[in-house]
Amino acid sequence: LHSVNGALDVALKSSPQQVTIAGRDVRALSYNGGVPGPTLRVRAGDTLSVSLRNGLKDPSNLHVHGLHVSPENNSDNMFITVAAGDSFDYQYELPANHPPGVYWYHPHLHGFVADQVFGGLYGAIIVEDPEPIPADRERVLVISDITLDSAGNIPSATPMEKMSGREGELVLVNGQLTPGIATRPGERERWRIVNACVSRYLRLRLDGQKLTLLGVDSGRFESAREVNKVVLAPGNRADLLVTGSAGTSTLSALSYDRGSAGGMMMGGGSSRGADEIALATLTVAGEAVAPVAAIPNQPVPRDLRSATVTARRELVFAMGTGMGMGMGGGMMSPTINGRAFDASRIDTTVQFDSVEEWLLTNTSTLDHPVHLHVWPMQIIEQDGRPVDTMMWQDVVNVPARSSTRVRIAFDDFSGRTVYHCHILDHEDDGMMGIINAN
Ligand code: C2O
Ligand code: CU
Ligand code: CU
Repeated sequence: LHSVNGALDVALKSSPQQVTIAGRDVRALSYNGGVPGPTLRVRAGDTLSVSLRNGLKDPSNLHVHGLHVSPENNSDNMFITVAAGDSFDYQYELPANHPPGVYWYHPHLHGFVADQVFGGLYGAIIVEDPEPIPADRERVLVISDITLDSAGNIPSATPMEKMSGREGELVLVNGQLTPGIATRPGERERWRIVNACVSRYLRLRLDGQKLTLLGVDSGRFESAREVNKVVLAPGNRADLLVTGSAGTSTLSALSYDRGSAGGMMMGGGSSRGADEIALATLTVAGEAVAPVAAIPNQPVPRDLRSATVTARRELVFAMGTGMGMGMGGGMMSPTINGRAFDASRIDTTVQFDSVEEWLLTNTSTLDHPVHLHVWPMQIIEQDGRPVDTMMWQDVVNVPARSSTRVRIAFDDFSGRTVYHCHILDHEDDGMMGIINAN
């Protein structure tokens, strides 16, 4: 769905829906009948209007992940509750300087997020480039995971799965199990990849093909770089160019060790132990195609390393030990600075139009992908080492027992929104805080 004359009006209806996955009838959740929901294509300066109708049996709402839009009123206001059967009209106004790239949407009602996303509620948002990047073809690849019982239902997550973050047994690309993709030698494809998994990290590889990364999240390298892998934490997106060489390649997710709650969890998730998972097959065959034009350089990203920092703060992500629950260890409750989410409390007050430096510290034995709404973060230092390239992301992974330093410019929009762990089970369990910029 493309915007026309600066506006895109869409109706999104969330509802339980029977879909076909891997040849099986599955009772999933869906926007407008499909998994994933429709791709929304807009441009900087556009107004995106979404009329959300909640056909679920539970309350829900809508979040436009990564978009730099107001956190208030009918915009990206995650404090809105849309009751079962109700509707709500959202209006998102993208500023004229909104960065192009890959974004996405999903429900964001605290306590329901992991179940609703795991059920199938997500879709891509593309903010088009002002100057198109030459490519023969463009594809949107929304990667998600799901678990199905023998009757095609999605079983509810166990307490253990919630503690470490659930990972589905099947990893899907656009709702399909290992779909085939065909292209011709020499063709340049642009792949817009979304990690819509609730907790699974994707360490992506596509053997035998040339991969050129334009950027991650709203961040764009000044000149695109050749890579052989792309790592996406839950919530991250990649904007990737694939130049076809004759042959068959497998897009696979390599194992990623994200640690485990308490350092002793067994079997909760597969990305930490399993071998490579095949996600899609790319067949490059036929007559070679003349190469398209070179990839133009991108505007030099803003650099906050030389900015005047007006405040520094530390956010500590921890898995505190809660009430005992057996299994030899007790359940851990995720917290930020020792506290679980409270919708009536403002945890962090920042001054509008200031630049802050945040030290994101993870004291636990598993990774936490830290996400801030509205204002992107520039990564300054990871694990004590300065980052030498400009990296702007809205989900920044903080590996187990380490710290990551970021800078944030709180400009353009004031108001109240949240930061949280994008392992959505952790977010639902309280690893979220409220920030107010004024
Ligand atoms: Cu992708 Cu606060 O969410
Ligand atoms: Cu978000
Ligand atoms: Cu977490």
